[in-house]
Amino acid sequence: MPGIVIVGVQWGDEGKGKATDLLGSRIDWVVKFNGGNNAGHTVVIGDEKYALHLLPSGILTPGVTPVIGNGVVVDIEVLFHEIEALNARGLDTSKLKISANAHVITQYHRTIDKVTERFLGKRMIGTTGRGIGPAYADKINRVGIRMQDLFDENILRQKVEGALDQRNHLLVKVFNRRAITVDEIMTELLSYADRLRPMVADTGLLLSEALDRGETVLFEGGQATMLDIDHGTYPFVTSSSATSGGAAIGSGVAPNKLDRIVGIVKAYTTRVGSGPFPTELFDASGEFLRSRGFEFGTTTGRPRRVGWYDAPITRYATRINGLTDLVLTKLDILTGLKTIPVCVAYDVDGVRFEEVPVNQTDFHHAVPIYEEFHGWSEDISGVRRFEDLPIRAQEYVLALEAMSGTRISVIGVGADREAVIVRHDLTD
Ligand code: IMP
Repeated sequence: MPGIVIVGVQWGDEGKGKATDLLGSRIDWVVKFNGGNNAGHTVVIGDEKYALHLLPSGILTPGVTPVIGNGVVVDIEVLFHEIEALNARGLDTSKLKISANAHVITQYHRTIDKVTERFLGKRMIGTTGRGIGPAYADKINRVGIRMQDLFDENILRQKVEGALDQRNHLLVKVFNRRAITVDEIMTELLSYADRLRPMVADTGLLLSEALDRGETVLFEGGQATMLDIDHGTYPFVTSSSATSGGAAIGSGVAPNKLDRIVGIVKAYTTRVGSGPFPTELFDASGEFLRSRGFEFGTTTGRPRRVGWYDAPITRYATRINGLTDLVLTKLDILTGLKTIPVCVAYDVDGVRFEEVPVNQTDFHHAVPIYEEFHGWSEDISGVRRFEDLPIRAQEYVLALEAMSGTRISVIGVGADREAVIVRHDLTD
């Protein structure tokens, strides 16, 4: 099974790092195919905790070649900051490869992200403020700067001039900010060129050749299905393709090389930023999940919105991504609850919807229809076989599996790297 894709099912922060970890030594390459430093995964190895924003989590696994694909937008300052932080802790990052076609986030993207949000007022998206949306907007507008441009000063200057021509109008005339000069951007970008040169490559070619040799490539999706620019809760989404189709586009590897598509889903739901969230909780149960699950953003530190498990969302993610497996994370957080509600359908203005409504207004009005499951009180963090879980926990997992239409292959039962129950091998 050489091509394995990992995507988030809900609104992100499902614990993808854990699945990547689990595959660990069986992976030769890990490619991040979308997003930028808006992502955040925490990887726990022994007593050490690593919070990564931009680098693929495979950077921590010896023997793995980590790749930043063409679908990623790269803030180079953040890139070197993360590299240096890992090096300081004794980790080798010298194998990192970055696509020559990946786009660059610069100062004007970050500024525009923040001022746009401020101007949106009540309608704000709640972005991470890292310049992600504006960098992708430049890419689609065909005024973006790509990694390869950094190695040709003439070309770079022309492109920066072209981009700033447009962006400065917006900054000065609409947002009342100072104009950014071509020279300041040139100085910033050129200062990184020499260090970047050995890392920048035709990564689509490297990955395709690796797959042809029978090596295993993990395609690591940032954000998640419901934040996908096309298939998420638009406009409250990120600006990239976070679903499995994005794995091909954002890595330069053909779709027929993707053999296994693994969805990561939390045993309850969280969301950061604005937008519809039918099962959101505002009561003590919500507080319980937030504090027990430590639901605070890895990138921004914001408290996450929390709610019960939403089965139509997983069913939707199964369909959109073609999921072959699910990894159910954080089951242990539910321990101690007397009953656990699961959303099985929605009521939209008196009409029952079994599936996620395509119409934005309908989804905003969707009221969850719940089915209640019995909780369990036993500590499950040491359990490693499904049949050793309390019967109520088994029932909960099997019910989610039946509702989602995909097998639950792995279950996370604790924060430790080893705290998983494997029902089906993800590389079989
Ligand atoms: P942006 O990606 O910074 O443009 O933010 C757009 C939306 O995606 C906001 O609601 C963010 O909170 C959300 N978002 C972006 N990255 C992540 C992530 O890694 N986890 C959860 N939410 C995210």
